[in-house]
Amino acid sequence: MDLYGALRPLIFRLDPETAHNLAFWLGERVCAWPRLPEPEFPTSLCRSAFGLDFPTPLGLAAGLDKGATLLPLWKALGFGHVEIGTVTPHPQPGNPTPRLFRFPEAGLILNRMGFNSEGAEVVAARLRGRPSGLIVGGNLGKNKETPEGQALDDYRAAYRLIAPQVDYIALNVSSPNTPGLRNLQAPEALQPLLAGMLDLRKELALERQPLLLKLAPDLAQEDLDAIVEVAVASGISGLIATNTTLDRGVVAEPLRALVEAKGAGGLSGLPLKAKAREVRRRLLASLHGRLPLVACGGLGSTADVQAALDDGAALAQIYSALIFEGPALIGRIHEGLAASGV
Ligand SMILES: Cc1cc2nc3c(=O)[nH]c(=O)nc-3n(C[C@H](O)[C@H](O)[C@H](O)COP(=O)(O)O)c2cc1C
Repeated sequence: MDLYGALRPLIFRLDPETAHNLAFWLGERVCAWPRLPEPEFPTSLCRSAFGLDFPTPLGLAAGLDKGATLLPLWKALGFGHVEIGTVTPHPQPGNPTPRLFRFPEAGLILNRMGFNSEGAEVVAARLRGRPSGLIVGGNLGKNKETPEGQALDDYRAAYRLIAPQVDYIALNVSSPNTPGLRNLQAPEALQPLLAGMLDLRKELALERQPLLLKLAPDLAQEDLDAIVEVAVASGISGLIATNTTLDRGVVAEPLRALVEAKGAGGLSGLPLKAKAREVRRRLLASLHGRLPLVACGGLGSTADVQAALDDGAALAQIYSALIFEGPALIGRIHEGLAASGV
């Protein structure tokens, strides 16, 4: 059994946010080691997507390392890319605690973190010391207090600070924990948002830097098709699907009642798998190769990642499964992919 496996019962007895903070405290110490392992990947795992060369399709999804504090560790553990954030332009505390709940038997996480963020200035300064050889994406959001009509100003303010320090940007319009955020996915709101961001990208001479859009799984098929057309017409570089779901229907009884008792928030992990895959397949069919898609949502094994890639995704990201299975999962997925000739 690996170290994480041995500590797992202890970790899961702690309050989830305490466990998170403890893991980050430890992780920061590990990052200070002078010689962290340099992961090696078989060339068969290499992927090119939106103009970037990834050593492996597997990356860490947004929301775990919101402040870009553990990049050397993620690299040493074998992620090919890490999406930091969501970063908001100004610092904000996020929602009151408790706001993070784990259901280990079901591989499920419920969160209503609400973009706790140190703010773009602090995160940008930290990114200046980022390790080489790891692709870093910056996931951006708006501050809670910013009215929906001024969301573009927030994304632009965060972009100015974060974009020069990262390899790609992801616009998060799909977190369920910031009131009104998901309304930005409506075509009439999305079109000016994307146009405004692409103008800024040009103004900052960052035209070659990929700009992606991260979507929710709770969209009707017609909405997905309409979003694809707006995204393709805008000239952005790709999509990430999906974020967490608000749909409690993905959880069967009797667990559903327990989840509902915890209150608002987005669900991730195993119960999200089928729904996220269905949304991705619809997006891929609608995209018809016009933009690359990054798969996220409920992926937790070689077979899941393989299925996402076979469906046509360019890359895959994980979050919840890493919490339940520990860092050894990364190596297991890579071994499985390499063995199957990916
Ligand atoms: C505790 C927690 C916090 C998250 N925070 C963010 C975030 O800040 N921004 C974002 O785009 N996604 C965030 N996510 C969503 C993940 O990036 C991912 O889209 C989602 O969890 C589905 O993947 P998974 O099933 O592998 O966890 C968060 C997820 C969790 C569990």
